[in-house]
Amino acid sequence: MSDLVFDVKNVTLRFGGVVSLNDVTMEHRRGEILAVIGPNGAGKTSLFNSLTGVYRPQEGTITLSAREGHPISVIGRGAHRIAAAGVARTFQASRMFSALTTFENVKIGAESHRGIGAVGAMLRGPATRRDEKASDDKTMELLEFVGLKDQANVLSASLSYGARRRLEIARGLATSPVALLLDEPAAGTNPAEKLELANLIRRVRDELGVTILLIEHDMKLVMSVAERLYVLNFGSVIATGTPEEIRANPAVIEAYLGSSETQTSEAS
Ligand SMILES: Nc1ncnc2c1ncn2[C@@H]1O[C@H](COP(=O)(O)OP(=O)(O)O)[C@@H](O)[C@H]1O
Ligand SMILES: [Mg+2]
Repeated sequence: MSDLVFDVKNVTLRFGGVVSLNDVTMEHRRGEILAVIGPNGAGKTSLFNSLTGVYRPQEGTITLSAREGHPISVIGRGAHRIAAAGVARTFQASRMFSALTTFENVKIGAESHRGIGAVGAMLRGPATRRDEKASDDKTMELLEFVGLKDQANVLSASLSYGARRRLEIARGLATSPVALLLDEPAAGTNPAEKLELANLIRRVRDELGVTILLIEHDMKLVMSVAERLYVLNFGSVIATGTPEEIRANPAVIEAYLGSSETQTSEAS
């Protein structure tokens, strides 16, 4: 049996009459770069929200094994618990504190994870000062890793789209996650920035050992980075396989027919 970080079985999620996920079964192996693709409205973000405890599917099971042999059930646990268990994510729409610097945005991620809240930051005793140094060092390491060290002290609002996307990845990594879920990380970026992002995603896995789940519209990027893919259409998994298998799959070609522009355009 392979070692799975996420084991999703027969998950169905409904909103009133809308079926967002229909009997979805998915295995995410430890250390794998796995992608979820599909047309707009297919259920990709709903799946992320279900994996992270934000949505609560009515049927099925989601088992998270942040550590091998220590499974927990995701459904019914809050988003905070899943994050604390080792799952970090970025959002489809960029979320950062634009009035803060690049450095501050990443440091907040590191501190919130360690439970040093705003109060802790104000009541700086000797212990928290030591923590402070540790989170400063970690923040700079991460900024260097994502190529933003030189822009540590600029306001994040002034960063290019590509740099903002890398900042969000650094912020996700600040919690030292086991798994990082990226929801359309290349949205709004130009071709050169997409290449940088592809390289960064590979390095996150190769150098930091983080398991990666990627939602991405850009076919070129997703096919170059993902080792395996699941294709969603109207909430159902219609195909799974390697990039080569997916490209040749008639059901996938059919699902994308007539929507070829949405594959390469910026995400909505
Ligand atoms: N919070 C919600 N309330 C109602 N419907 C939702 C909610 N979240 C997602 N949906 C519905 O689920 C379907 C899938 O949406 P989504 O997961 O965002 O798709 P994708 O990310 O693939 O574009 C859509 O029909 C969407 O309207
Ligand atoms: Mg989405």
